[in-house]
Amino acid sequence: MPKTIIANWKSNLNINQALYWLEQLEEYLFDPKAKTFFADHNLVIAPSYPLIPVLYELAHKLKIKLAVQDISPFGAGSYTGAVCAKNLAGLGVSHAIVGHSERRRHFSETHEMIADKLYQSWQAEISTVLCVDESDIKPQLLILDEKYPDWATHQDLLTIAYEPVAAIGSGQSADPDQVKRVVTTIKQDFVEVPVIYGGSVSVENIAKFLQITDGVLVGGASLRAVDFIDLLKAVKKTEI
Ligand code: PGA
Repeated sequence: MPKTIIANWKSNLNINQALYWLEQLEEYLFDPKAKTFFADHNLVIAPSYPLIPVLYELAHKLKIKLAVQDISPFGAGSYTGAVCAKNLAGLGVSHAIVGHSERRRHFSETHEMIADKLYQSWQAEISTVLCVDESDIKPQLLILDEKYPDWATHQDLLTIAYEPVAAIGSGQSADPDQVKRVVTTIKQDFVEVPVIYGGSVSVENIAKFLQITDGVLVGGASLRAVDFIDLLKAVKKTEI
C-alpha cells in the first residue's frame, strides 16, 4: 500500500530557499535505489502559493506532487484575496490541505467553511487532505453530509490527516497506540479513506507512524532539506 509523505512548509520558505531545498532532494533522489523506493510512495510538498509555478518543473521531474496549504470555500468570482480551486488550473497542483488547526485557530475557519473548501476542491478534481483533531471528526463529517449529501461520490479524493493539536509543533508526538485507535475508528465508524498522521513527526518516530497509518504530514522537520532527507532515509531503512 503506497504511503503519502507531505512536507508542509507553512509560511516559511521563500523561492530561493525552496529551490535550494528541491535541488538537495534531487541529489538524494539521484541515487537510483532511493528513486525507485519513493516512486512507490507519494512525496508531496506544500509551499506557499506564489512559489508553486516556479517549483512546478523541478518537482514534476522528481515526481514530487504539489499541494496548496489552503483553498477558498468559494468558486471563482468576487472574493478578493482568495485563491479558488479553479485559479489553480494548469499549475500542476494535485492536493489541497484543508482545515489545518492553524487555519481553524488563526483564521476562524468553521466546519462549514471547511466542508465548502473540500467540495470546491473536489469539483476541480483536487485531492484533499482534511486535517482534524479527534473532536472534529464527527461534526466535520456531519456538516459535510448535511451540506453535500452526495459527497461520498468524491470519496476517492479524500485523505484524512489525524492531527492532535497538542502534538503540532510541540516536539511531543501523539502516542502511537492512540493514533492507531483513532485511525481504526475513522476507517470503521466514519469513512474508509486513507488516514495519515501529523504532529511532531521526526526521524525517531516516522517509521512507527508509517506502519500504523497511510502516511504522515510533516511540518517543522520538513523545513530544511537535510532534515527531510534524514526522515526519508529513516523510512527507507524500515519495512513500511
Ligand atoms: P509539525 O507540524 O510537524 O511541526 O508538528 C505538523 C503540522 O502542522 O501538520
